[in-house]
Amino acid sequence: MTTLADDLRNWLDRSRARIGSLTIEPKLEHVGRVVRVGDGVATVSGLPEVRLDELLVFHGGVRGLAVDLGEEAIGCVLTGDTSGIPAGSIVRGTGEVARVPVGDALLGRVVDPLGLPLDDGEKLDTDSFSPVEQRAPAIVERALVTRPLATGLLVVDAMIPLGRGQRELIIGDRGTGKTAIAVDTIINQRSSDVICVYAAIGQKASSVAQVIEAVRRYGAPERCLFVVGEANAAPGLQWLTPYAACSMAEHFVARGRDVLLVIDDLTKHAAVYRQVSLLLRRPPGREAYPGDIFYIHSRLLERAAKLAPERGGGSLTALPIAETQAGNISAYIPTNLISITDGQIYLDPRLFYEDQKPAVDVGKSVSRVGGKTQAPVLKDMSESLRLEYAQFLELEVFTRFGTMVDERTRKVIEHGRRIRAVLGQRQFAPLSLGEQVALLSAVGEHVLDEVPLDRMDAFRAELGAWLGEHCPEVMALDDRAAPLSGDQRARLKAALSALAHTVAPSNGEPGKA
Ligand SMILES: Nc1ncnc2c1ncn2[C@@H]1O[C@H](COP(=O)(O)OP(=O)(O)OP(=O)(O)O)[C@@H](O)[C@H]1O
Ligand SMILES: [Mg+2]
Repeated sequence: MTTLADDLRNWLDRSRARIGSLTIEPKLEHVGRVVRVGDGVATVSGLPEVRLDELLVFHGGVRGLAVDLGEEAIGCVLTGDTSGIPAGSIVRGTGEVARVPVGDALLGRVVDPLGLPLDDGEKLDTDSFSPVEQRAPAIVERALVTRPLATGLLVVDAMIPLGRGQRELIIGDRGTGKTAIAVDTIINQRSSDVICVYAAIGQKASSVAQVIEAVRRYGAPERCLFVVGEANAAPGLQWLTPYAACSMAEHFVARGRDVLLVIDDLTKHAAVYRQVSLLLRRPPGREAYPGDIFYIHSRLLERAAKLAPERGGGSLTALPIAETQAGNISAYIPTNLISITDGQIYLDPRLFYEDQKPAVDVGKSVSRVGGKTQAPVLKDMSESLRLEYAQFLELEVFTRFGTMVDERTRKVIEHGRRIRAVLGQRQFAPLSLGEQVALLSAVGEHVLDEVPLDRMDAFRAELGAWLGEHCPEVMALDDRAAPLSGDQRARLKAALSALAHTVAPSNGEPGKA
């Protein structure tokens, strides 16, 4: 029977053994002290060895980035709550830059910019990490953008086509459907193999929840990743969001995948960066933005690229979003972003209020790369569209004043109205390439001129099923398909005319809408 004395002896023996195996050696640790803290930033003294962008650990485990190195003090942006950090408390350097978890485990998840889960799911099961700031691919590591990235929105795919590896700015006033275009593009990737990363910066939690809900309901959420630095997160976190999201995306790109990165939005990102910079007492420049505001966005967007085959051939397509005030695209941040990107999709509030949605202003929108990647069959159909549409818009303005018009002009206007109706589209209803080709053909062949405008929605709703039955060859088109032959065109026209008759049986008077 063991006694208390035996127990004690055993315990002492075990303790002696543990103490014997202890190695005691000096450990060097650099520490500094907090001089000033508040509003998401801190000034730290000491820590002479700290490098730019190094991760520092504050009281209570709060992390910060050293973004401003001075002789006397270091300016830090904090990624957590500043309220628990007393002035004079100790700060430790880590010798590392900020890193985020990367890998397949992130797919289908909602995370913050440090990779902590924001959904109810379990902890992320990944042991690969990647620095948030990375060098953009060099010129020799890049290849030409060759494959299209279909948005499923006819107005974009036909007139402002995007390529995989391109950077296209979505720009417009508040509430004009900027996020909607990006979300529809993500949803359309349900029929491709593109991985989608949505970075939300400084947005209301409810808006982000709507986006996630829409993608879960209509898209392929298992191939999507949401990185959220919401409006009430520390400014440092919001600032880090696009870089972190980009690193998470680059992990897949390096493995040869095509990735779409939506950054919603860079205007808020610029505002957060201005706030942090002013608090760190950096000299303000134009519109009080710091001098490096152009650089922080260009080095982010330069990371979007199509990689050369020897680098795996993956691509990162970036869709940054920017907000304008009263349609002013020549303000500071919008002009910066327009000059960094390969084109812009401009959303016009006037069109939005006239219920022309998506409210894309075709005249002010451009894609400087994607045209070469557009599916040949779609390119062939949309060649004359831009010109016809522009002519119609000009004529329409002219006839608004009640001018009497001749028969020919009236026909042009009626035709233009059909084009406009075809370019409008509901949310969450992306069109396949076949449907897009068919709609363009219906306009181009004047089949729709006989359908009243209020029956256009019905025509569109029936289209997919009708073509599947009466013209399956069109539904089977893919982005490498050659332009339709004369025979195919004729068969498609016949099928479309038949549909037009079913949808609007008693027509006969064109343009009676
Ligand atoms: N094609 C569309 N059809 C019908 N409604 C649309 C369409 N596109 C956008 N909307 C509606 O317009 C509203 C504004 O859209 P959205 O939130 O995408 O705009 P935004 O420009 O991102 O706004 P914010 O500036 O607040 O971020 C939403 O209620 C959305 O449902
Ligand atoms: Mg939005």
